[in-house]
Amino acid sequence: MRIIVTGGAGFIGSNFIFHMLKKYPKYRIVCLDKLTYAGNFSTLKSVMDNPNFRFVKLDICDRAGVFALFKEEKPDIVVNFAAESHVDRSIEDPGVFLQTNIIGTATLMDACRSFGIKRYHQVSTDEVYGDLPLDRPDLFFTEQTPIHTSSPYSSSKASADLLVLAYHRTYGLPVSISRCSNNYGPYHFPEKLIPLMIANALNDKPLPVYGKGENVRDWLYVEDHCKAIDLIIHKGRIGEVYNVGGHNEMKNIDIVKLICKELGKPESLITYVANRKGHDMRYAIDPTKIHNELGWLPETKFADGIKKTIQWYLDNRNWWEEIISGEYQVYYQKMYGDRK
Ligand code: NAD
Ligand code: DAU
Repeated sequence: MRIIVTGGAGFIGSNFIFHMLKKYPKYRIVCLDKLTYAGNFSTLKSVMDNPNFRFVKLDICDRAGVFALFKEEKPDIVVNFAAESHVDRSIEDPGVFLQTNIIGTATLMDACRSFGIKRYHQVSTDEVYGDLPLDRPDLFFTEQTPIHTSSPYSSSKASADLLVLAYHRTYGLPVSISRCSNNYGPYHFPEKLIPLMIANALNDKPLPVYGKGENVRDWLYVEDHCKAIDLIIHKGRIGEVYNVGGHNEMKNIDIVKLICKELGKPESLITYVANRKGHDMRYAIDPTKIHNELGWLPETKFADGIKKTIQWYLDNRNWWEEIISGEYQVYYQKMYGDRK
């Protein structure tokens, strides 16, 4: 089996590559990544010498480059993780989100049409469903929940999903889509809630909580997401959408307090700052379909996953300290500098 994994130098894509190379030592895995600010070549150093792994620095919007790579590698499966993924950045500057997340997806699928493929899998997000109210804990996102987006990021991901389904119906492209809730774990870029709070707490810096910290996210350990995608590309039905989530809803403020506790840092570091524009209140996935059809269930409990994650950031300070020492400082100053 020959698989092209796009965005494999990022958080979830790299974890997926590690999972696949370990579980299927005979598969050839080609990672296609532009190495944007979010992509990190050093993340993949443990697999660079694996003869069944190849890294190619390429933009998924580069049509000629993508077609040439498909011609050369003749993939059976494409798993598209490549995306601009941070909501706050999309609010500041939507353009690149439309380019990568929509045009990039179409470019990849055009290459799949030209060279033939057994499966194109789109890694999507629960954010395409918009949000749920806090006072209706009985409501969950199912695959039938209407698309109803809030941010330029989620709108770009929803646009891509619609294109994927259109390519299936119009051209018969063998596609599948997974819509997952918030992931956490190793190699999570420190602009996102959990790694940002860990890094700031370790540096005794303020912990910037948006609004009152009451927004709820449904957290899933990244390995469980990777296992879900592995199942879908091998056994999932073509043309189908699968929701992936762990029934693990937590308020942001409770996560931040837990991180303080685990690291022995005072809660006085917590600083309430101006809310995110259009901030989604609650995400909550109903994963019944993937459980019933493919037998998937999350394996890592949050209490264990967050401990493992914090330990990883303690053991791998070089990885994130290098990131936050560079261009990230400019980003941080812009986003948090005078955010009241
Ligand atoms: P990330 O930002 O950590 O990584 C994105 C990767 O894509 C980086 O390596 C980057 O260099 C690469 N990339 C960006 N633009 C590219 C382009 N034009 N061409 C080639 N490569 C490009 O993202 P992540 O958190 O790992 O998310 C991966 C995917 O999963 C995204 O599609 C995201 O929408 C989706 N998702 C993320 C979460 C989450 O909690 N992080 C949850 C559900 C779905
Ligand atoms: O639900 C899946 C989505 O989860 C993915 O599609 C996105 O790619 C991923 O980034 C993530 O989006 P969120 O916006 O939920 O994640 P983020 O880590 O940015 O924020 C989580 C919550 O924490 C959110 O309610 C905003 C809040 N927050 C975030 C940051 C960075 C803060 O309060 N302070 C912060 O500094």
